[in-house]
Amino acid sequence: MLTITPTGKILGATVTGVDLSRPLSDADFAQTLQALGQYGVLRFSGQHIDAAALRDFSLRFGPIQVGVSEGFRHPQVREVGILSNVTENGKPVGLADAGQDWHTDMSYRETVGFVNTLYAVKVPMRNGKAVGDTLFANMHAAYDGLAPEWKQRLAGMTATHDFNKFWENMRQNHASKRPPLTPEQRAQRPAVVHPIFMTHPITGRTVLYCNPGYAIRINEMSEAESDKVLDMLFQHQLQDKYIYRHSWQVNDLLIWEHIGTLHNALPDYGPGEQRMMLRCQVMTTPQVFEPGFVDRAMARGSALQ
Ligand code: SIN
Repeated sequence: MLTITPTGKILGATVTGVDLSRPLSDADFAQTLQALGQYGVLRFSGQHIDAAALRDFSLRFGPIQVGVSEGFRHPQVREVGILSNVTENGKPVGLADAGQDWHTDMSYRETVGFVNTLYAVKVPMRNGKAVGDTLFANMHAAYDGLAPEWKQRLAGMTATHDFNKFWENMRQNHASKRPPLTPEQRAQRPAVVHPIFMTHPITGRTVLYCNPGYAIRINEMSEAESDKVLDMLFQHQLQDKYIYRHSWQVNDLLIWEHIGTLHNALPDYGPGEQRMMLRCQVMTTPQVFEPGFVDRAMARGSALQ
């Protein structure tokens, strides 16, 4: 039986009473899914799992997206990505700058992202304190906090999301060493359109689904107006009052849902301060948005059909 202890902050809860090196029981899955909607970000601390166990746990929430950069996949378990600044024999062992600005994973896919699972193998420490924290922003609260006239004006509008926006932002503004996307990689990730407001499939509440990482245009506005309104939305959703900060410990398994949150991995550590995470990126399926999804998923112990 799981125990779920809320952080008492704008997001986040700690889950205890479970060993994720073994399959999660159906009842524990049901509790976890509900808590994900309620708290957005869940921390399972002190977990001792390998890449295969991370994949198996993640698959309970849906199909896993395999990243476009082959070099950063786990050598034995291709559904698991390695995020790391560690080098071996002069070569990077993982993607060094993944997620280092505000974004929502897989908003650039036609069926959007659902859940990330991130397992801390190495956490950089400075003066006895962890660095390389991850920030999260609460999009249930950001929607609730929008002025009524914006809720009305943007209802029914859509935004285009483009994978290349974040990629180029990293290259141009964050001195990333990642090469430009190849034409083949761009073809694998065409721009997509999503509503700006969505009904969250777990909570049934409205969320603001628009993020500075990938959203490039509000389609029902002129370009100039879209730029202004997107700037306003990005500033609004990243106010301190909506933000939660997770400070890592080795063997933390953090999971978060993407529809109601944004996140940002803080790059406040140097090359000698090693950080290594194993990650799975779980997609939604169309069934996630059908009425009764949560009840069915809880009953069968899996979000997959
Ligand atoms: C991510 O954006 O999935 C990475 C988050 C992190 O490394 O803290």
